[in-house]
Amino acid sequence: MNSRIQYTLKYIKYWLFAKHKKGHGVHSPFIYNLIINVLNNKKSDEALNAVFDVYKKYLKSKEVLKFDEIGAGTNYKKSKKITIGEIIKRSSINRKYGELIYNLTKYFNPTEILELGTSVGISTAFIAQAAPKSNFNSIEGIEEKIKIAKKIASELKQHTEFIHGDFDEILESVLEKYDKLDLVFFDGNHKNTSTLNYFNSCLEKIQNESIFIFDDIHWSSNMEEAWEEIKNHPKVKVSVDLFRMGLIFFRKELSYEHYVIKF
Ligand SMILES: C[S@@+](CC[C@H](N)C(=O)[O-])C[C@H]1O[C@@H](n2cnc3c(N)ncnc32)[C@H](O)[C@@H]1O
Repeated sequence: MNSRIQYTLKYIKYWLFAKHKKGHGVHSPFIYNLIINVLNNKKSDEALNAVFDVYKKYLKSKEVLKFDEIGAGTNYKKSKKITIGEIIKRSSINRKYGELIYNLTKYFNPTEILELGTSVGISTAFIAQAAPKSNFNSIEGIEEKIKIAKKIASELKQHTEFIHGDFDEILESVLEKYDKLDLVFFDGNHKNTSTLNYFNSCLEKIQNESIFIFDDIHWSSNMEEAWEEIKNHPKVKVSVDLFRMGLIFFRKELSYEHYVIKF
């Protein structure tokens, strides 16, 4: 079966069986509050609207970037010419999930943040806007994309540190910059072993309140395997499957539980 059809079937299954949209049936006050205050938060504010405006503008951009593709599905270097608008359409988070990571960041107020997979900086912009005083590093392997991400950050007057390099080569040295990690957004190389390696490396820096966010957890069976292993790691107390994204919490005071929440 073609992977597009498989993905759609997985989504239908999620839509039919996911629960707790309004928090009903959730016993954990922590998760209930997360649903009410973050997942169901539809309030927008000036700071969020500023990111939406920049997002809209770059989505229309016909400026062409030329680079060698990396990541899952591209085991060889494939030269690519593509507009910024197309990059955003194909691989950046959309408005709904942009708003989600903005709200998550605002709610948990992390100060030590890391992103794996900047691309042209759309998710980066949502996170940075919600945590203007944080120490935020975002890693990307393609320099052409970082140039655009820097432009977007400067238009929004954000102070994100962009790091160019291959996760496999530089993650360990980037992690040395941190005493702890409060929030990590994993949205780079969607391969099973790579995702697990990055997860394990970042685990070294968690504290009780850390949050890990994984994008595209159902994107392929490979990513689903990685997600299964991550959520069942003994240090993980609670996982939340929102279909496109998965959230991981380590709080010792929580009971072990896996939620699939309609979002
Ligand atoms: C899905 S895109 C990120 C989208 C971005 N987070 C957003 O929502 O706007 C994944 C990015 O990870 C980068 N990437 C993939 N594998 C990488 C690696 N091993 N090292 C560095 N960057 C990598 C790709 O170049 C691509 O730009």
